Amino acid sequence: MGSILYVAASPRQTDSVSRRFAGVVLARLLAGLPGACLVVRDLVADPVRPPDAAFTRAILAPPVPDHPALATSEALITELEAADAVLIATPMHNFTVPAVLKAWIDQIVRIHRTFSSTPMGKVGRLPDRPVYLVVTSGGWFTRPSPAGAPPQPDFLTSYLRAIFETIGLRSLTVLPLEGVTRGADALADAWGRAMALLDDALPP
Ligand SMILES: Cc1cc2nc3c(=O)[nH]c(=O)nc-3n(C[C@H](O)[C@H](O)[C@H](O)COP(=O)(O)O)c2cc1C
Repeated sequence: MGSILYVAASPRQTDSVSRRFAGVVLARLLAGLPGACLVVRDLVADPVRPPDAAFTRAILAPPVPDHPALATSEALITELEAADAVLIATPMHNFTVPAVLKAWIDQIVRIHRTFSSTPMGKVGRLPDRPVYLVVTSGGWFTRPSPAGAPPQPDFLTSYLRAIFETIGLRSLTVLPLEGVTRGADALADAWGRAMALLDDALPP
């Protein structure tokens, strides 16, 4: 039996496009891992606190087993380590990740635990596994808008690729849904494009 970790970051619940598309991805993942345990980490229903002073002191000091200030970090990393596949569903907020997702990242990307600092740079410590990233945006960032506006900056997908590579997870599949707030036609187009990418990544 395997395990799938689903991390959701949209402030919306039932009307969220990223959560809805994540449901389709999850169905494919579960079909490929029958009987897998699904762990849902909803960063809006159950937010992760940003790093505080005790956390900061703990990660700057030599590592101590079971440090109380790192208990949340340890629990979130254990959840991630146990997953055979990871699904992240997030909207783009101001060209990057929402604050709730950044707070989760600040807990799971931890020196001496999920990466090591070496003279040659940071080296990931987790075994690789597939990570699927559903990204929704109101506008367009992979291509010009249908009206011809240039693509907006994207500090989200390259950032998450760098973050996951830092901890050893290099197999990232990005499934963008762009223009999801620009009417039914734009949403249908975004859905169709994302389904085509999903069919390549995880055939039905
Ligand atoms: C605070 C905030 C910032 C946003 N910034 C952007 C942005 O930089 N670019 C963009 O295309 N859409 C932006 N949007 C629109 C969201 O990306 C869009 O509402 C979201 O992808 C819809 O996803 P959901 O249906 O899963 O909630 C922003 C929305 C909010 C609330």
